[in-house]
Amino acid sequence: MVRAWIDANSKGFSLSTITLTRWTELRDAYRRKELRQALYGNDDGPLRDCLLNLHGTEHRDRRRLENRLFRREVFEHWEYDVLGPAVSSILAPFVAAGEGDLVNIGYRLAMNLTATIAGLDVDPADPTQTDTVHRLTSKLSEGATMAHSTRDRDELLREVEAAFDELDNDLLQPAIAARGGGECPRHDVLSVLLANEDKLGLTHEMVLREIGFYLQAGAHSTANALVHSFDLLFHWLPSQAMTPADAAEDLELLQRVVHEGLRLWPASPVALRRATAACDVTAGISVDEGDLVEFDLMSANRDPDIFGTDANDFNPNRSLPDGIPLWGNSFGGGIHTCIGQELDGGVPPDENSIGRPLYGTVAIMLKALLDDGFVPDAHRPPEELRSSTRAHHGNYWVTRTSTQGEHVNG
Ligand code: HEM
Repeated sequence: MVRAWIDANSKGFSLSTITLTRWTELRDAYRRKELRQALYGNDDGPLRDCLLNLHGTEHRDRRRLENRLFRREVFEHWEYDVLGPAVSSILAPFVAAGEGDLVNIGYRLAMNLTATIAGLDVDPADPTQTDTVHRLTSKLSEGATMAHSTRDRDELLREVEAAFDELDNDLLQPAIAARGGGECPRHDVLSVLLANEDKLGLTHEMVLREIGFYLQAGAHSTANALVHSFDLLFHWLPSQAMTPADAAEDLELLQRVVHEGLRLWPASPVALRRATAACDVTAGISVDEGDLVEFDLMSANRDPDIFGTDANDFNPNRSLPDGIPLWGNSFGGGIHTCIGQELDGGVPPDENSIGRPLYGTVAIMLKALLDDGFVPDAHRPPEELRSSTRAHHGNYWVTRTSTQGEHVNG
């Protein structure tokens, strides 16, 4: 734990920021009801009244309703019926070209899936529409992570507002009409919101922001996870005397690769909360009202007390103490735990599992890339994204060696 005094308010009180770095500290802090979301511009940001920013009963009521959509049968439908065909359509032009930028490919794959889940009627086989949704998604994502951006804030806000207008006119309003204003629901977030507009006191603007949030929340993290998993896998395979084709045949291994990649490179390396009242955050650490608490996911995910002395190494076969997930804190914790966790990460295999196995969308995408013979392009090493202080790739060129088989589920 590190405590830093950051600023003094007009009344002369000092507010402090505490940074939590240990696994047990984060575990306890995620459970504190006094700590509320503070990373995404609570009062004026584009995510101000989205699920991620709500607190207390407002959060509980909306989460309960949206949770109804995120259940096993629907995950199965998304993983098998929606993702398989979408992956084939999105990869087709890159397969034909024999190369592509995996950051772009990952975004296009992820965003088509999350657009469908959000409730926007996109056709993955239509590259122009994919371009539009990709452009809007990137802009909303930039707005959501404004706290980490090095760009001019007002300029960025104007661009984000324009993206919301385009999303509303070209995608959301037609989607609402296609659902008969809520009379013809589908398996998507929009249908849940339309059915509960009165109960939740939602205006059209709030629905727009929630759909925009879903679109970018799922897309950005999924694309990020795909690029890191691919990169880590290819660096690790030679040490195991395995080929990409061997890995493609083992979806359980690919699922662990994704989980271990998420642990090492969380899409959101920090979470931030503000104390709404004085409280004990964890044993021996207390905060006053107004203090900020930073959750350092990257450090906690590499805590040697939990993950061992080789915590910084990539080892998808590591064994862990009971109750510790391989992905660490990368899907968050407490009331804001990621609603898309099982969708993207799947459900770890268990003899009591019913239905078809769920490997998670990222493992399925990874397998599709391997099946199509994509490998890192040795002549174009990846670049880091310069407009962000987060650990993301600006580009990651891949090239094809051969076609190794058919896509799973495809
Ligand atoms: C590998 C992919 C993903 C990662 C690493 C990830 C990570 C996270 C994290 C860390 C949080 C909590 C943030 C905080 O505590 O401040 C979160 C929340 C959330 N995520 Fe994800 N996410 C992923 C994919 C998705 C997908 C595919 C969807 C939707 C389809 C989604 C929807 C959400 C929502 C709605 C929340 C807010 C939950 C709440 O506040 O109750 N995420 N995610």
